[in-house]
Amino acid sequence: MAVDLSVTFTGIRFENPFMLASAPPTESESNILHAFEAGWGGVVTKTIGMHPVVNVAGPRTKFLRYHPESGRLSMNKGRDGVLHSSWNWELISDKPLDWWLPRIERIKQAFPSRVLIASIMAGSGSDKELDHWRTLATCCQEAGADGLELNLSCPHMDRPDMGSNIGKDRELCSFVVQVVKEVARVPVWAKLTPAGSDIVAEAGAVFRGGGDAVSSSNTFPSLPLVDPDTLMFEIEVDGYVSSGGLGGPAILPLSLAKMAEMTRAFPDKAFSGIGGVSDFNTALNYFLLGCGTVQVCTPPCWTGRSAPT
Ligand SMILES: Cc1cc2nc3c(=O)[nH]c(=O)nc-3n(C[C@H](O)[C@H](O)[C@H](O)COP(=O)(O)O)c2cc1C
Repeated sequence: MAVDLSVTFTGIRFENPFMLASAPPTESESNILHAFEAGWGGVVTKTIGMHPVVNVAGPRTKFLRYHPESGRLSMNKGRDGVLHSSWNWELISDKPLDWWLPRIERIKQAFPSRVLIASIMAGSGSDKELDHWRTLATCCQEAGADGLELNLSCPHMDRPDMGSNIGKDRELCSFVVQVVKEVARVPVWAKLTPAGSDIVAEAGAVFRGGGDAVSSSNTFPSLPLVDPDTLMFEIEVDGYVSSGGLGGPAILPLSLAKMAEMTRAFPDKAFSGIGGVSDFNTALNYFLLGCGTVQVCTPPCWTGRSAPT
């Protein structure tokens, strides 16, 4: 007998509450179609923006593995070992809005009962940037997106008016959400950073701006390890490195602590849990805290498959 896993979250009906988070598994039409064929209830697209995106040369994501025989934690010591975390310094989608819109339309036509949330990002430092938020929101909803997730949490931005730099600033959180809400006809979620000073205050700012839900966490700011044999960082470009984002099993307890703070402070509000989910048992922690949906990123990146486990 099929079990009914359907939920209604921020007014959107989900066949099941399991979603792929904004990341490589949702960066293309074929990946998203494959995810829906595999049974995911929803996806959040890779973040779409309107500013130029130039990624680092070389790998953007690496997996930190624990090697039981040597007792070492390393990205580079072979493919055996147990997954500890993902580390990435990947920027948002390098595909323009015009590339995304017909794809959103086609995906929704193919899977009308599955949920597609468009993740969007712009700056906050000028009227032009605020117009970018409006354009991204209106175009994605017209193409058929069921909701919007505002990326206020990308940890890799070199601009003070974007990504997690918005998420760390309560006034900007409220303001940007309000700007999008003025044009949105679909629910608006805001994805927060775990690197702010007080996530309860930041979530409060999102709700004051009219946000329908908070998604948390994005990755945690972190450095790659130094290889003791070479004294080089395990990932670098011409000897240089920067802080990147940690995801996967290692962040589950950390993300849960952030979520628990918010669901305690706002028991009647909607939350989407992200961070360290790899199966039902790990997802259960977020549901018991009061989350209506969960999102998953590192496991499908690690296996290269988006089938739920
Ligand atoms: C390679 C990579 C790219 C990502 N890109 C985005 C992105 O474009 N937008 C976004 O909101 N989050 C992005 N994330 C963060 C994930 O959506 C998620 O919040 C984070 O990885 C924690 O979930 P996990 O523990 O399941 O990995 C990215 C994560 C990874 C590993």
